[in-house]
Amino acid sequence: MSETSPKLRAELEGIPTYKPGKPAAAGGPVAYKLSSNENPYPPLPGVMETVTAAAGAFNRYPDMACTALMSELADRFAVPLTHLSTGTGSVGVAQQLLQATSGPGDEVIYAWRSFEAYPIITQISGATSVRVPLTPGEVHDLDAMADAVTDRTRLIFVCNPNNPTGTVVRRAELERFLDRVPSDVLVVLDEAYREFIRDPEVPDGVEIYRERPNVCVLRTFSKAYGLAGLRVGFAIAHEPVAAALRKTAVPFGVSQLAQDAAVASLRAEDELLGRVGSLVGERTRVVDTLRGQGWTVPETQANFVWLRLGERTVEFAAACEQAGVVVRPFPGEGVRVTVGETEANDIFLKTTESFRKEL
Ligand SMILES: Cc1ncc(COP(=O)(O)O)c(C=O)c1O
Repeated sequence: MSETSPKLRAELEGIPTYKPGKPAAAGGPVAYKLSSNENPYPPLPGVMETVTAAAGAFNRYPDMACTALMSELADRFAVPLTHLSTGTGSVGVAQQLLQATSGPGDEVIYAWRSFEAYPIITQISGATSVRVPLTPGEVHDLDAMADAVTDRTRLIFVCNPNNPTGTVVRRAELERFLDRVPSDVLVVLDEAYREFIRDPEVPDGVEIYRERPNVCVLRTFSKAYGLAGLRVGFAIAHEPVAAALRKTAVPFGVSQLAQDAAVASLRAEDELLGRVGSLVGERTRVVDTLRGQGWTVPETQANFVWLRLGERTVEFAAACEQAGVVVRPFPGEGVRVTVGETEANDIFLKTTESFRKEL
């Protein structure tokens, strides 16, 4: 038997592994998971019924073209079917966008800190990450990002609202930035948390896409729509980007359960968005309470808050866990805490209160 192992691509060396939010501890008195920006509500009864019905046929492959979902999305966003592409979560679609645009020698720009999948999927593509630090206010520094564009730039992620800080870029600054980006560079507006935005100055990426052929919008059913476990997201993009997404799609990547649940969720949208409204109310309560306790909290338009705890980050996350909530620490930087059930938010706020007194 040969002693050598199969040759793998050099780019895979040193790739940071994606850290999923820690699950809530099993068996404890209370345990809430506030570490993955999920929707805390269980699936709506109607959506459950649809998925249960679809489960009776999972010996069959799903509809590869996602026909029903695509037509629902095309109507809703008033976009041609050919400008839509679904995938295994929006992170799956983001990876396809990199496959389609970027390889060794190319550059991909994104803010940092931002969604932790960006460095991973960029490195897998073989392209080079160009990270542009957030401003001191924890917001995308769009001027610096435009300055970072070179002849090698192929793709730029703008995460709006930004994960993990929850901060947003507004219409005027985004338009100014897009005016500066060459038209042959793809700008991906990652709007995973779009439904939680209440600031009217934050533009809807779909409106921007209509005017700009180099803009692609990413959306997901994982957050507001509560389908994180089913893995379905989508992109809206002009040709030839949309065609490239069709070429790079994993055949049958989106299960029939996910497709049917997404359609049912769009049809139950009033109820789902009512739940989002409650979470936004909780967000206001959480942020106001934190500020009242003396914390500096960047303005968040997502379903999570960011506390820059620096060296105390890990200790704070441990205190939360002890109290019954699991948060997402970024050691040395800060914690991201999902706005969840009222009881969970209360436990978090109690912990911040006692921690604040110790600081
Ligand atoms: C900014 C951002 N984009 C994309 C995703 C991926 O979501 P999904 O792949 O579940 O659609 C996430 C999930 O945390 C996110 O925070």
